[in-house]
Amino acid sequence: MVTIAVAIAGFGGVGRAAADLLLTRRDRYLQVYGADVRLVAVCGSRSGLADPDGLEAEHLDALEEGLTGPKFIETSAADILIEAGPSDFRTGGPGLSYIQPSLAAGRDTIVISKGALVHSGVKLRALAETSGAMLKISGAAAAALPTIDLLEHSLKGCQVLEIEGILNATTNYLLDAMMSQGLSFNEALGRAQAGGFAEADPRNDTEGWDTAAKLLIIANFGLDAGLVMEDLSVEGIQSVTKERITAWRSEGLVPKLVGHLANVKGKFRASVGIRALPISDPLARLRGKNKAIRIITDAMGETIAMGSGTEPLSTAAAALKDLEHILAARVRPVPVPRASP
Ligand SMILES: NC(=O)c1ccc[n+]([C@@H]2O[C@H](COP(=O)([O-])OP(=O)(O)OC[C@H]3O[C@@H](n4cnc5c(N)ncnc54)[C@H](OP(=O)(O)O)[C@@H]3O)[C@@H](O)[C@H]2O)c1
Repeated sequence: MVTIAVAIAGFGGVGRAAADLLLTRRDRYLQVYGADVRLVAVCGSRSGLADPDGLEAEHLDALEEGLTGPKFIETSAADILIEAGPSDFRTGGPGLSYIQPSLAAGRDTIVISKGALVHSGVKLRALAETSGAMLKISGAAAAALPTIDLLEHSLKGCQVLEIEGILNATTNYLLDAMMSQGLSFNEALGRAQAGGFAEADPRNDTEGWDTAAKLLIIANFGLDAGLVMEDLSVEGIQSVTKERITAWRSEGLVPKLVGHLANVKGKFRASVGIRALPISDPLARLRGKNKAIRIITDAMGETIAMGSGTEPLSTAAAALKDLEHILAARVRPVPVPRASP
């Protein structure tokens, strides 16, 4: 049996959910991969906890001040890092300061925050290639909605011609509430904030930047598109008025904030903006806090995935899906005996 040590940097809603889920799945990892997966370190911005024998759930409420930072993770001797800190795509930090040394040291790294991937994606991929580390990013690429896995596995070998993604749950909720309940943008936003699923400062979502970051990550990591943020034109939903909503409704159209990627003779063009979709379009029927992606390929035609889950559990589960991809590649799965007919 092989022992796999995991550390988590960034211990807020998603980091904690990832820790809890990992601990409840330890028997599964043992049975499926023959791996004793231990959580050996966790840290937030000021405090953390480490134990080479493995932390248990009851330890995780008593973090110790000062146990944090890239060096703290380094000394935990983790085989795998899960990074779940804040996202800042203008600086890449603070995730970059954990992800970069982790990949350079050859440590398989699962990234949930988007900032470092947008800011330094090319550099991080090159680092991983050089060191042989696996870099997995499902949590940052719309999380519970499969995006990268569709490109890397389900549509393998096909040429992607076009992608349309409704990649931000908050903006889908807001436009849906405006369409179905006749609310103004500010009224819908107030409800989302009261429900705890829109930030006090919602501009990263409402102005389209979160969608742009996810689209860019999907394009660069899934298709090697080589885009930078400046290549994208980005429009949000903050100026949508009740009058515009009424006009769309009367024309049988449904507005969605869509990240669009087109492959024009091998060159990718990307944008984020409002698309008024005919009501017959499956993406027009996406309600509430859901996300969706439509991928059009040369040989498999149109593929659509839609989904959501309760946060932060579903984002944690997307990161642990990546953990299983790593275990499957690094540790030989244990053969499961077939039931006799
Ligand atoms: N929440 C979701 O549903 C969701 C969905 C998809 C993706 N994401 C992404 O997942 C990431 C985490 O989201 P969240 O909701 O868990 O955020 P959160 O609750 O604000 O947690 C962020 C965590 O990062 C820690 N942190 C800040 N600076 C740090 C540093 N220098 N070193 C170590 N830790 C540091 C914070 O520590 P302190 O507590 O000490 O400040 C906190 O523990 C974000 O990048 C977000 O975009 C979230």
